[in-house]
Amino acid sequence: MSKKPVRVAVTGAAGQIGYALLFRIASGEMLGKDQPVILQLLEIPDEKAQNALKGVIMELEDCAFPLLAGIEAHSDPMTAFKDTDYALLVGARPRGPGMERADLLAANAQIFTAQGKALNAVASRNVRVLVVGNPANTNAYIAMKSAPDLPAKNFTAMLRLDHNRAASQIASKMGVAVGDIEKLAVWGNHSPTMYADYRFATVNGKSVKDTINDHEWNANTFLPTVGKRGAAIIAARGLSSAASAANAAIDHMRDWALGTNGKWVTMGIPSNGEYGIPKEVMFGYPVTCEGGEYKIVEGLPIDAFSQECINKTLAELEGEKDGVKHLL
Ligand code: NAD
Ligand code: LMR
Repeated sequence: MSKKPVRVAVTGAAGQIGYALLFRIASGEMLGKDQPVILQLLEIPDEKAQNALKGVIMELEDCAFPLLAGIEAHSDPMTAFKDTDYALLVGARPRGPGMERADLLAANAQIFTAQGKALNAVASRNVRVLVVGNPANTNAYIAMKSAPDLPAKNFTAMLRLDHNRAASQIASKMGVAVGDIEKLAVWGNHSPTMYADYRFATVNGKSVKDTINDHEWNANTFLPTVGKRGAAIIAARGLSSAASAANAAIDHMRDWALGTNGKWVTMGIPSNGEYGIPKEVMFGYPVTCEGGEYKIVEGLPIDAFSQECINKTLAELEGEKDGVKHLL
């Protein structure tokens, strides 16, 4: 094994997404089959959570993954994020009975302020951060604002599940292989307001929009299906999506670290004003990745329907941002 191990921190490590995620990171699916990793796992100090984490660690050990160069259990972000190269912030406060959205935002603002500060203090100066815990875009924004010494561009939110869901719906509508779909974009917030946009998408070079040619399906079936997929899974399973969320997190980090070979993917990233989105808004954009950096696909024409969808998801994000302003 010649490569030096990299440090990967995962929060909420004993939760459902953690259970679907850690084994794949340790087997090399995220950073490559030649890249050893040290897992730095964070859970809340609660005894039950720490015990559950111990059990997960026993199972990781029992897999005897050749690439797993170390496993650490933590209850404090200040130790969990020490020198970390990649941080997957999965743990978040779920919405409880009677909790309003504002309560959820406030509870998570505390978590992501503390974790952003800890990353700022102890992580690698090049740490790449993916926020999965909901509300993912706003939590990522909070972490970014709490880490002024780290590059803002290194804080990202997970829109990849929406991207993958959109690709799968299109593949099924067209009867094509999902892997053949290119140039799909998802704009905005990880929420039902996201705008999955297949105007530029192709399958084996053929335009998806021209082939489907059905605005009614786009507006009244496709967008609501993708937007409400999380709720549909909760209704069916009694639990929120976990394996597909973990898979999307792997896809996001792998593509960011190892590149997309020109292929478009979707990442939630801080805006620099692209497409008229105000600076610092954590917004889903189509990007390509190369050499460990992402680049927004620029110059795409935005028609009236798309602008309306983008405005709606932006308004929601700005509302969330306003809701946590006093906490930052
Ligand atoms: P879960 O409840 O099974 O696990 C979450 C874990 O996080 C728990 O073990 C909990 O103890 C831990 N935790 C809570 N606060 C923490 C903190 N401050 N530090 C460290 N750990 C903490 O939940 P899950 O199903 O794994 O989902 C995790 C989050 O991911 C939720 O917010 C969920 O809504 C979100 N999610 C996002 C997407 C997306 O596409 N962005 C998709 C699916 C789920
Ligand atoms: C999802 O999209 O599956 C998650 O964000 C869970 C949810 O609450 O929708």
